[in-house]
Amino acid sequence: MKLSRRDVAAYAREAAVSVLITNVGELVTNQPELQAGAGREGPGPFAALAGAALVIDEGRVAWTGPASRAPAADQVIDAGGRAVLPGFVDSHAHLVFAGERGAEFAARMAGQPYRAGGIRSTVAATRQAGDGQLRANLRRLAAEMLAQGTTTFECKSGYGLTVRDEARSVALAAEVTPEVTYLGAHVVPPEFDGNPGGYVDLVSGAMLDACAPRAKWVDVFCERGAFGRDEAAAVLAAGMAAGLRPRVHANQLGTGPGVRLAVQVGAASADHCTYLDNADVDALASSATVATLLPGVEFSTRHPYPDARRLLDAGATVALATDCNPGSCFTSSMAFCIALAVREMRMTTQEAVWAATAGGARALRRADVGHLGVGARADLVMLDAPSHSYLAYRPGVPLVAAVWQGGERVAGE
Ligand code: NIG
Ligand code: FE
Repeated sequence: MKLSRRDVAAYAREAAVSVLITNVGELVTNQPELQAGAGREGPGPFAALAGAALVIDEGRVAWTGPASRAPAADQVIDAGGRAVLPGFVDSHAHLVFAGERGAEFAARMAGQPYRAGGIRSTVAATRQAGDGQLRANLRRLAAEMLAQGTTTFECKSGYGLTVRDEARSVALAAEVTPEVTYLGAHVVPPEFDGNPGGYVDLVSGAMLDACAPRAKWVDVFCERGAFGRDEAAAVLAAGMAAGLRPRVHANQLGTGPGVRLAVQVGAASADHCTYLDNADVDALASSATVATLLPGVEFSTRHPYPDARRLLDAGATVALATDCNPGSCFTSSMAFCIALAVREMRMTTQEAVWAATAGGARALRRADVGHLGVGARADLVMLDAPSHSYLAYRPGVPLVAAVWQGGERVAGE
């Protein structure tokens, strides 16, 4: 029997061959190598090896170290001096939607301010769309992310805002990622104008019941024009009582109670963190709540960039994510966010790459991704460059040469 190339590839996967990637110019592990059993403990600080090799076995990182001491494996790939990084972890994205808002972006660039109310136009388009259309858009964006090296991503609902439309948004998101966030409390939809309390009751009641079975996280947009502190606290409390874990859109458009609320409820992350006062910085620095910065939003709204240095110097844990959505930021590129963070937010290249990998993993409370310690999921990006710094040094250039997810090559030749 003659096998097609596709059959051969499928058999090879089933045989779970081990793969040695050798001659790696820079292997970013985010894991000090000498720590025994390090992989099981989750991401450590930025760490990288020069002249390195890595072995993948059964979908996991089985060995890392100097190329000269690499063990044998079934298959050998010569990286030719290129850099290998953990796959990017994009811990904040809104991918279930229909329509687009290019004209709104153009108007902003011509001087109009960003308004959270623009969300409602995407809500209208999303409600009208069929499941097939939403699924196709979602899958296209998920594929776009993977091709750019994002091997783990979070995905929020929040453009449905009825029980039916939020439930289907969450169900669609669950088809493409385990990191599903219920964001019924994105904005108050038009049919609840003048009755925000009624909408908070719905989000905390029947809508939550319909969404909780397929979601892992509950999120709320705590901001003037969206939900105030007490409303946000009520939504988070209801979500947590239903078994969801909290995360918060906080302090995006102005100062306010969002960050402190996030810390008080033990949220995994407070996202945006653009307008912070000293108490917010202190609260983040003395908690396990990750400050997730989304610099693509500031790029696309002309707001000032968040003060990453202030957060890092205070001791807060910082993650970088895209916030990919049709309104405030329509990029799926973690490399672009890294470049912005380095150039505009004074993060070092090491800090930015850590924040886009290990930081995202912390924001999702994942110990198995965001690093390449032994035992980590074999989610890898190979760059067409010798060092992680090229992600900012060569902005806008597609540097991702190959991507592995769970040990399987999913992009690249
Ligand atoms: O994270 N801040 C709230 N939600 C999105 C914006 C969504 C939109 O404008 O459609 C955000 O920026
Ligand atoms: Fe967002």
